[in-house]
Amino acid sequence: MKSVTRFLIITFLAVTTIGLQLSYASDGGGEITYKSTVFSHDSHVDGMGLDCDSCHDGIFEMEAGAMAANPAFSMEAIYQGEFCGACHDGDTAFASDEDCTTCHVKDGGDMLYTEPVKSVIFSHEIHADGFGCESCHTGLFKMEALAAQKNENFVMEALYQGEYCGACHDGDTAFASNTRCATCHIGVKGYNRLTGGGKAANGSH
Ligand code: HEC
Ligand code: HEC
Ligand code: HEC
Ligand code: HEC
Ligand code: HEC
Ligand code: HEC
Repeated sequence: MKSVTRFLIITFLAVTTIGLQLSYASDGGGEITYKSTVFSHDSHVDGMGLDCDSCHDGIFEMEAGAMAANPAFSMEAIYQGEFCGACHDGDTAFASDEDCTTCHVKDGGDMLYTEPVKSVIFSHEIHADGFGCESCHTGLFKMEALAAQKNENFVMEALYQGEYCGACHDGDTAFASNTRCATCHIGVKGYNRLTGGGKAANGSH
């Protein structure tokens, strides 16, 4: 008899757990990944106790990826109180113009520019010291890999005029753009070392 009771209890527990998992899975959209941000249903629904209709359909469609393809989904719109900014306004939830990295989980990594000349290196890790994301995004750079090199004026002259890297590499905030050429220009050898076989980009420099 005892073992039958135990069997029933175990079966009951198993069925309940599966039931919970099913209702849990059907309950929200899980984790939504955008270019450099992640939105978590778990933390907003379970964590903060928000109802579905606090976002659906007034702010977001119940559809994965719809926003990712929408060019209006920009930081500027969020600052203006749209989308995530409807709550992330410093009132209902932390403001969008601070704590960038709470939402922006991708830090950008290393850039290796190859146009117009091979090869110039930029490292987020080295620049993280003392600079928030807002020091460079979006005033100086888009949050998009190598976007700057699509611009024709991404040349030394622009840097000397204080644009792009030259906003800091002016001999004041950081070493000047007309000095230490090889610190930024790692050349073809450096390019091969970082991109070619053998030792990968995370090696020491
Ligand atoms: C704080 C805002 C917010 C709340 C609250 C919220 N969602 Fe979402 N939901 C989103 C966002 C953002 C997306 C993605 C929309 C997009 O990218 O276009 C989304 C997408 C979805 C999707 C589509 C995901 C997929 O994988 O197809 C479903 C389903 C969904 N939500 C269900 C729910 C349900 C059910 C609830 C309540 C339990 C809920 N959501 C609560 C913001 C929210
Ligand atoms: C309906 C209101 C609402 C909307 C819309 C909303 N959030 Fe939130 N979010 C909150 C609240 C409330 C908190 C917790 C309060 C706080 O930490 O200030 C929070 C916390 C967070 C956190 C920290 C917790 C975690 O998940 O790590 C992140 C990141 C976040 N939100 C990202 C987003 C993004 C990205 C969007 C848009 C896609 C968004 N939120 C839209 C209300 C909202
Ligand atoms: C509440 C969450 C949240 C916070 C906080 C936040 N962002 Fe964003 N940001 C987003 C979302 C969502 C997008 C659009 C999806 C994507 O590109 O991943 C975005 C896109 C961007 C983009 C690319 C698109 C564009 O408009 O150019 C930049 C640049 C950006 N954010 C900069 C910042 C900076 C700088 C900060 C801090 C001052 C910041 N963000 C804080 C959610 C946030
Ligand atoms: C010193 C300047 C600087 C700072 C500070 C900075 N970035 Fe960037 N970021 C760049 C440059 C340069 C690029 C390349 C864009 C270009 O070429 O136009 C970039 C690109 C990116 C990309 C796109 C990478 C890809 O692979 O698509 C992301 C994501 C990003 N940054 C996130 C961040 C975040 C998050 C922070 C803050 C923690 C931050 N950045 C701080 C300069 C900076
Ligand atoms: C927001 C200011 C800022 C911007 C914009 C900026 N830098 Fe820097 N960078 C610094 C500072 C500060 C240092 C370290 C101080 C110094 O060495 O003078 C530095 C150091 C470096 C270094 C030396 C790294 C090492 O190994 O020691 C390189 C290379 C570099 N930057 C390249 C770039 C390139 C390329 C760009 C543009 C794509 C750029 N930086 C944009 C502020 C900036
Ligand atoms: C702070 C970083 C930095 C320093 C220092 C730097 N450059 Fe550049 N340089 C760049 C960037 C960024 C580009 C554009 C991207 C590319 O061509 O890969 C560039 C492009 C160039 C180009 C091709 C475009 C043009 O302007 O004709 C030449 C040539 C060049 N640099 C020469 C030099 C010389 C010579 C020095 C030293 C006197 C120097 N650079 C120092 C970052 C730097």
